[in-house]
Amino acid sequence: MDINYLISKAKEALNYSYSPYSKFRVGAALLTKDGDIYLGANIENSSYGLSMCAERNATFNAYCHGVKKNDIKALCIIGDTEKPISPCGACRQVLSELLPKDTIIVLANLKGNHKITSIDDLLPYSFTKDDLK
Ligand code: THU
Repeated sequence: MDINYLISKAKEALNYSYSPYSKFRVGAALLTKDGDIYLGANIENSSYGLSMCAERNATFNAYCHGVKKNDIKALCIIGDTEKPISPCGACRQVLSELLPKDTIIVLANLKGNHKITSIDDLLPYSFTKDDLK
């Protein structure tokens, strides 16, 4: 897997950010095992709580195109942060359900730093659908 290419696609997604309130652009790129890439950006709303994060949009975008959980290989998220961007708690919960456990999560920033992590590192001891039984 070409991590730099995936980061460049997440960076491309920054251009689709609609963030007039926070003025904080976030881009994401989800890579499938077949090599397809689905982009997402943060899309905000004047009713702030209705805004949607980039990584959730990239994941929903993939699912809306028929991608299944086990087709997913990696997800990259990028923002203009000091250190590689850190996904919010809501995204960690959603990603923990929609991405396979072995998904390569790449957190990046515009300074050229990146960190590779995993679903379990982002959200240990997560609440899952098995807890609903
Ligand atoms: N945001 C993301 O899209 N992803 C993250 O990982 C962190 C935060 C968005 C939400 C909101 O539109 C803006 O960044 C500021 O919080």
